[in-house]
Amino acid sequence: MRGAQAQRGWSAVSQPSHVRAEELLAAAHQAAEKAYAPFSGFRVGAAILTRSGKVFTGCNVENSSYGLTNCAERTAIFSAVAAGQLSAEYELEAVAVVNHEGAICSPCGACRQVIFEFGPEATVIFRAHNGQMVELTARDLLPEGFRLR
Ligand code: THU
Repeated sequence: MRGAQAQRGWSAVSQPSHVRAEELLAAAHQAAEKAYAPFSGFRVGAAILTRSGKVFTGCNVENSSYGLTNCAERTAIFSAVAAGQLSAEYELEAVAVVNHEGAICSPCGACRQVIFEFGPEATVIFRAHNGQMVELTARDLLPEGFRLR
């Protein structure tokens, strides 16, 4: 495990994770291999952990009509909802998102809002713009996230 951690630069994170981060990152990397990204060539994978302890994965799915592209994080979250495993706020414990080559990959604004819906306190794990792997809460990433209720 140490080798895998070093390979992904995970050892740079000072706080040990409480959200099965290594497992989620490995699952996200596997998911990224399935990405449909013929237009950008930027293959993304995500893995989420639900409160029930289940892991769901997703990849980005692009489209000839570019705006219809679905990001990896949303694919994973929507899969969990469709499987009946994510239906309420605070049921989302963690999200890991990776580029298949380990490039910097910060969740986009739309995905931050979708993550916030199910897990305002969820841990989000990704390679930040400083090149380090980081863990931040959804609320950190999206202060004052939108809520209808
Ligand atoms: N992408 C994701 O899958 N997640 C993100 O949070 C950022 C962007 C995808 C969308 C598109 O297919 C590609 O990365 C380039 O923007």
